Amino acid sequence: MKNLGVGVVGVGAIGKLHCQNYASSVPGASLVGIADVNAPAAKEIASSLGVTAVYPDYRQLIADPNVDAIVVATPPFLKKDILLAAAEKQKHVFCEKPMTLSLKDADEMISAVQRSGIRFQVGYQKRSDVSFIHARKAIESGEVGKLMLVRAHNRDPPTTVGGWSADPAKSGSVFLDTCSHDFDAIRWLTGSEVTRVSADGSALMYDELRKNGDYDTVVVNMRLSNGAMAQVDACGWTPYGFDSRSEIVGTEGGIIVGMGEKTLSHVYQNGRISNEKHAYWGSRWAQAYRDEMVSFVKSIVTGGTPRATIQDGKAALEIGLAAWQSAKSEKLVSLPLK
Ligand SMILES: NC(=O)c1ccc[n+]([C@@H]2O[C@H](COP(=O)([O-])OP(=O)(O)OC[C@H]3O[C@@H](n4cnc5c(N)ncnc54)[C@H](O)[C@@H]3O)[C@@H](O)[C@H]2O)c1
Repeated sequence: MKNLGVGVVGVGAIGKLHCQNYASSVPGASLVGIADVNAPAAKEIASSLGVTAVYPDYRQLIADPNVDAIVVATPPFLKKDILLAAAEKQKHVFCEKPMTLSLKDADEMISAVQRSGIRFQVGYQKRSDVSFIHARKAIESGEVGKLMLVRAHNRDPPTTVGGWSADPAKSGSVFLDTCSHDFDAIRWLTGSEVTRVSADGSALMYDELRKNGDYDTVVVNMRLSNGAMAQVDACGWTPYGFDSRSEIVGTEGGIIVGMGEKTLSHVYQNGRISNEKHAYWGSRWAQAYRDEMVSFVKSIVTGGTPRATIQDGKAALEIGLAAWQSAKSEKLVSLPLK
């Protein structure tokens, strides 16, 4: 059978990783084209991977007859139009999170996906991470009993912020851009919906975020439909570097999903014990980024359900919007949103 031709729209931080995976590590699929408004960036990654079809406009990529599916890795505020254009041409879509910025847009996207019959998967890669899969199996098999508490921490090292990611009108805020990974993971792990959210945030280190009303440090508390509680935090200035951990507590036991140490060796030296850890998210989630694409391709070839569906994308979006509303109003917000 012919390999599935995949094109990537947006070759920034995450788009590049997706290009590399499709160029070498996803069975049954090949990287056949790239589109980015940043021509030098597109050319650089294309030439390093031997791709000749490079476009400044995503519509040209979508129209390319060699392209069967696209990966959308642009800033969030652009994704809806790209999905609508792809659905019109019957091209399958893998869309990075958050899939868009409003519930109205999400509904428009859902209608387009249903009308066209394309496969659509959202980039919530924790569903493809071996440690999270193990945690979910343990929960499903009853090993930890009835769930009581789920917590997730997201810490990023100091950086410079700017552009779309510092503007909540384009990123959807830290709640959509960062925390939505865990809103999705909590739904997926627990099989429960979030029914109530209270959130607060502070911009302690980044003037640009403060100016735009976004936050670098947030805490989101949630009540789930099964009665359990959940909490997600994010901090964008962690001096010790990237750190992402989760914890599940049940009546019979608990689960900790750690950072995913790079090796199991610990070096003992001068009163210190050290272990090599992942320096950034791209390294921590490398296995999951590859496997989520393997499952996306499989869902296209077999007609199966994508690992994170468009409805899952909308659900995580809704929790993020509720968190934003709660932080701004200083009130508890119930779901579904009115
Ligand atoms: N799943 C994850 O773990 C993960 C990690 C990082 C980023 N993301 C998500 O991926 C998306 C992109 O993030 P990023 O950090 O790679 O951003 P980025 O700014 O590094 O890259 C975005 C790219 O999109 C390009 N672009 C902008 N407008 C375009 C257009 N109209 N057509 C084509 N290309 C266009 C830019 O030139 C840039 O190369 C965001 O939604 C982000 O939240 C997900």
